[in-house]
Amino acid sequence: MINVGIIGAGNIGHTFCQAALYYKDDLCLYAIASRDIKRAKLYQDKYSFEKTYNSYQELYSDPQVDLIYIATPHGLHFEQMMDILDYKKHILCEKAFTLNASQADRVFKKAKVKQCFVMEAMWTRFLPVIQAIQKEVKDGNIGKVMYIKADFCFKADVDESHRLLNPKLGGGALLDVGIYPITFANIFLGQAQSFKSQVQLSDKGIDLSESIEYYYQNAKAHLKASIIENQPIIAYIYGDLAYVVIEGFFYAEKASVYNHQKQLIKVIDIPHKVNGFEYEIKEVIECIHQNKLESQIMSHKDTINMLKQMDDLRETWKLKYPQEK
Ligand SMILES: NC(=O)c1ccc[n+]([C@@H]2O[C@H](COP(=O)([O-])OP(=O)(O)OC[C@H]3O[C@@H](n4cnc5c(N)ncnc54)[C@H](OP(=O)(O)O)[C@@H]3O)[C@@H](O)[C@H]2O)c1
Repeated sequence: MINVGIIGAGNIGHTFCQAALYYKDDLCLYAIASRDIKRAKLYQDKYSFEKTYNSYQELYSDPQVDLIYIATPHGLHFEQMMDILDYKKHILCEKAFTLNASQADRVFKKAKVKQCFVMEAMWTRFLPVIQAIQKEVKDGNIGKVMYIKADFCFKADVDESHRLLNPKLGGGALLDVGIYPITFANIFLGQAQSFKSQVQLSDKGIDLSESIEYYYQNAKAHLKASIIENQPIIAYIYGDLAYVVIEGFFYAEKASVYNHQKQLIKVIDIPHKVNGFEYEIKEVIECIHQNKLESQIMSHKDTINMLKQMDDLRETWKLKYPQEK
């Protein structure tokens, strides 16, 4: 049995807990830590945690905790992982893993020394629909992939204090939602040779929306991310034989394949067993059981690669988080 401790009794912790209950023979929701014990108790009432803590440090030092799920804003992840590794706990850390590639590299180096499993919780990579589309592409059913379009734009109805608008917490569109279209393009086209981008910055230096073009030898990707515009969240993969449409691509349960006469030729329909987080959680359980230090599906190299691409984008936007100045 793997005992899980969660830090941060906020929004995404609920999604994780609901999916974790699906594996109750392998995983125990053991401890939850919050800066406010009342929030931890609410989680305990809902998910039957054995322990509640009102400091993250107390949870790290509990010898019964095997794995820590980090459910706090991205700007805090680096320091938290460096602390947690001192206690030799395995880690599943929410996306974005860290603020930049250099922080991620330091975490992975320390995890290796401490012999701990560490993985970024980029759940999209584990979705069976995404993996089925990867197989369609690999089997040549889409033809040569020539163009990808992926948009993740939504209007965040939050006040100034929210993590999305707080530079110190890694606020902005890029690390919150931009990471998804970038991941999507990397899954299906690999790393681009060059890029162009446009950004809209707030007066506090937060990236509110961005449009990114990735150029490959014989292909192109057009990606959009925003926290100020409501638009359909959708991705397209155009090949020279067929094209794929994936609504809500970051949580997708369904994809439709069309030929170039716009006729629907295949529907890939794989409903979640819970909410979609169950697939990344299954990977964590399997890796820990097999004493692996990293997942092959969300490898350390991939996490660093995604962050490096976001570092490169931010460099052209002259956007640094306060921790980087
Ligand atoms: N995979 C996905 O689909 C998905 C979806 C949403 C979010 N996420 C990721 O999950 C992480 C958390 O997002 P969220 O939406 O759950 O955020 P949230 O509800 O705003 O915050 C999560 C928790 O972080 C803790 N926290 C610790 N220090 C904080 C500080 N200085 N300011 C604010 N919160 C602080 C708080 O927990 P306590 O006060 O209880 O200690 C808070 O409840 C982010 O990295 C985000 O990108 C992933």
